[in-house]
Amino acid sequence: MELCVALDLPTKQENLDLIHKIKNYDVWLKVGLRTYIRDGEEFLKDIKKINPDFKIFLDLKLYDIPNTMADSAESIMGLGVDMFNVHASAGKRAMKEVMSRLVKYDTRPIVLAVTALTSFTEEEFTEVYEKGISNKADQFAKDAYESGLDGVVCSAFESESIKGVTCKEFMTLTPGIRPFGEDAGDQKRVANVAFAKSALVDFIVVGRPIYQSEDPASVVERILKEI
Ligand code: C5P
Repeated sequence: MELCVALDLPTKQENLDLIHKIKNYDVWLKVGLRTYIRDGEEFLKDIKKINPDFKIFLDLKLYDIPNTMADSAESIMGLGVDMFNVHASAGKRAMKEVMSRLVKYDTRPIVLAVTALTSFTEEEFTEVYEKGISNKADQFAKDAYESGLDGVVCSAFESESIKGVTCKEFMTLTPGIRPFGEDAGDQKRVANVAFAKSALVDFIVVGRPIYQSEDPASVVERILKEI
């Protein structure tokens, strides 16, 4: 299991300060919508300048018509990131088109599909998708697997079942992690590190419990030890 730190701070400088504090740890860094919209490609280069070994997960959750998603995936190829994601609810045709557009490259980033956002309650999710979370997450995962993606973004609670309906090498990346039972914030389905490990999760994403801590490096260290 690997740790992915969410860079969700309000300013570029604060994100850079955080990265400096954790630069000696073997972690992935997650650049989300807010950060990428504000700081763009330049910020990705800044990360590599601090430590070229940092792996970058560009969490833009693409959702559009198949051709636009595939075009965007090709643009992402030019950014040199190590992982990016799309929404599974964009459909199999869109996911297949993304993957077929990347075939011509010798190496490509890991591509994941978002199943159910971890901020959804069961009721809120059913309102949108007309099915319960676990049911639909399994279906979305199967769609992503059959479309040639490498894995899915899901909650730790769906990880085992998703591996059961796809295969154990099909990766799961789980946000909504409160490593040692910290405050959940707006996340509705949170799990700790021990649970994620037992659920065979491949990547845990942790944001607030690290960047809101007085000592982010020590939280990272504790998580890595437990992993
Ligand atoms: O602060 P916290 O640990 O809750 O951060 C979780 C991160 O994971 C945020 O950047 C959020 O956007 C992202 N995320 C999520 N749920 C998903 C996909 C991504 O919380 N399904």
